[in-house]
Amino acid sequence: MEIDIIGLLSAFSFALDCVEAELIHVTSNHGKRVAYMSVCMAQKMGVSDDALRDLAACALLHDNALTQYINEEFYNDISKAAADEISPRQLGMHCIYGEKNLEKYPFKTDVKNVILYHHEEADGSGPFGKTWTEVPLFARIIHFCDMLDAFCKAQKFDEHVFNKAVHFIEKNRDIRFDGEVTGMFLDAFDKEEFSRLGDEHIEEYFWDRIPCEKSFYSFDILKDLANLFAKIIDYKSEFTSRHSLGVAKTAANISKIMGYDEVTCDKMYLAGALHDVGKIAIGNEILEKPARLTDEEFAKMKNHAGYTYMILSKVDGFEEIRDLAAFHHERLDGSGYPFGKKADELNQLQRIMACADIYQALTEKRPYKDGMSHKKACGILRDMADKNWIDKDITDVICRMED
Ligand SMILES: [Fe+2]
Ligand SMILES: [Fe+2]
Ligand SMILES: [Fe+2]
Ligand SMILES: [Fe+2]
Repeated sequence: MEIDIIGLLSAFSFALDCVEAELIHVTSNHGKRVAYMSVCMAQKMGVSDDALRDLAACALLHDNALTQYINEEFYNDISKAAADEISPRQLGMHCIYGEKNLEKYPFKTDVKNVILYHHEEADGSGPFGKTWTEVPLFARIIHFCDMLDAFCKAQKFDEHVFNKAVHFIEKNRDIRFDGEVTGMFLDAFDKEEFSRLGDEHIEEYFWDRIPCEKSFYSFDILKDLANLFAKIIDYKSEFTSRHSLGVAKTAANISKIMGYDEVTCDKMYLAGALHDVGKIAIGNEILEKPARLTDEEFAKMKNHAGYTYMILSKVDGFEEIRDLAAFHHERLDGSGYPFGKKADELNQLQRIMACADIYQALTEKRPYKDGMSHKKACGILRDMADKNWIDKDITDVICRMED
């Protein structure tokens, strides 16, 4: 499949930014700013082409394991993670997971240990006790930008903040940051350039430096990435752990039974893995609220499919996948959300996705309920098909599937 893979990562960094904003109150666009700053600095050193794209990928995904880490260390309690003093050992965990998660990403240059060491301090006081000479340049750049962005915590990157930032950098030279990256930053950023970091067009500036480039990626590579993103989405809320991957498998399976070719089934898998990516933009207080949602909360919750649409719209070459993913709460009679599409606007694959999502949600185990039996779930699906919410033929196929 031909896509612009950095576009896909950039879409995901939006999702990660939402989690990070909730966790450590870093302002949104954090991932993009870190990526943009990193790229500007590296270009000053003559880094270009594949190496620059690989740096951008690492910077966009530097905290790809954040939700996994919160889930495992804090039993998914984001507020607890934010309140706790996080020890260097704990900090190191998301670096280990993060490096491992990207093992199969199609990097073109050697970026070993870049994610692993993105929290190492120049003087060796970081999670793995490495001093700056033992840490790859890209890891040092990302660490620098990550810390600087967290320090600035500002929407505006004006002269006042610039001066404060320079003071922060100088104070930490040879302690947290080595002289080389410090010099690179001062070389790449004056106060005008710095002010662009707060600009709403930051994404465009990023794309000016990393032009969109479509390449062919095999389904296996995309599947690995989609699995990683599904993991990030599902880790966000224990309520839905493994839901995305379940929908991916179910959707691909139904399509196969209905006679679709392999490429189409692969697309269904990808779309299934990504269908709830928009949930990452919804606060956990809504996703995990035990009581009934208020109208306002329910309206916010409904937005998740709209966010999925928005996030996947950013990926050049992903239009079909986006529609397969984002229309999963639409109903044939037009009463679904967020677009209120009707039967004639929903093709069979989009209808399969809607059925797969419902079937998966009913049959999977959640902390507050056991998974429903195949038979019982089919009863509910038939009832929905009778109301003209979902497709009857697809419902029949599901009901004939083995338990
Ligand atoms: Fe991190
Ligand atoms: Fe970060
Ligand atoms: Fe959904
Ligand atoms: Fe779902």
